[in-house]
Amino acid sequence: MKNTVLITGTSSGIGRETVKYFSNRGWNVAATMRTPSKETELGKLPNVKLYALDVTDENSIAQAIQNAITDFGSIDVIVNNAGYGAIGIFEAASAQQIQRQFDTNVFGVMNVTRAILPHFRAKKKGTIVNVTSMGGLITFPIYSVYHGTKWAVEGWAEALAYELRPFNIKVKNVEPGAIKTDFYDRSQDMFSKEGLTAYDSYQAVTFKNSQAAGANAPGPEVVAKTIFKAAGSTSNKLRYPAGMQAKSILVLRRTVPLGWFRAIVRSIVEKGFKG
Ligand SMILES: NC(=O)c1ccc[n+]([C@@H]2O[C@H](COP(=O)([O-])OP(=O)(O)OC[C@H]3O[C@@H](n4cnc5c(N)ncnc54)[C@H](OP(=O)(O)O)[C@@H]3O)[C@@H](O)[C@H]2O)c1
Repeated sequence: MKNTVLITGTSSGIGRETVKYFSNRGWNVAATMRTPSKETELGKLPNVKLYALDVTDENSIAQAIQNAITDFGSIDVIVNNAGYGAIGIFEAASAQQIQRQFDTNVFGVMNVTRAILPHFRAKKKGTIVNVTSMGGLITFPIYSVYHGTKWAVEGWAEALAYELRPFNIKVKNVEPGAIKTDFYDRSQDMFSKEGLTAYDSYQAVTFKNSQAAGANAPGPEVVAKTIFKAAGSTSNKLRYPAGMQAKSILVLRRTVPLGWFRAIVRSIVEKGFKG
């Protein structure tokens, strides 16, 4: 019997590329997204079926999982990929923007994971792959809320892996560096507060440097490949940095003192800031 993967947030970027990567390698793919009615390409790929799933809506999660199990017989791997960046100076963030960021990037991941666990326990087997970020282990300015979500998922997943190990359920965190996707474009939720101008020059410089990193980044294939590797692994390895940037920055983070590391980060992301 073919393996089946359910992936969240497959309308664009990493999720979309991951659907193609698994389909090309003979897996059944439950490609989930908020509005499958808009999708014209993925549903035509071999062994791919589309399902409506909003990670903030528990009914849609339960429905999509049930439908995928009915259609494919079972689910072997889930990929918690859906997410976006709420970015900008923290003081300018609204409570609603912070809430929505955690609802999607943290509680959404937890919702999908809680919903799949009875199925995985019954099978005595399963793999949960979370697309976190190198930003779940390090930080940059103007991403404080986003980092809060990714650090939350990193810590939660590390603890969860203990609980699930006796049931032969694996937990894997895939940690991309900058990847050229809609993350840096239509998916961004920018903070702004009327009358708050004190940070303007700092925000302008750090935003420009961050956007340049996105524009010069590799495409999502490298992440799809890493997700595939993590999904097929029989080991209990937890963390999978994806791409050269994430690998080298995370090695640096582990090997130099934090104060030095943060000075290096400032020299890169604050480049051009006059103070
Ligand atoms: N690109 C990077 O540099 C980078 C680096 C590290 C980690 N990541 C992580 O990679 C993941 C994928 O991002 P991406 O780079 O591929 O960006 P993307 O192209 O903007 O894709 C984000 C996906 O998440 C979906 N999504 C957002 N809110 C959702 C919700 N409530 N329910 C279901 N789906 C939802 C979007 O769907 P809609 O079309 O409906 O909006 C879209 O399909 C995210 O978790 C992101 O944090 C990205």
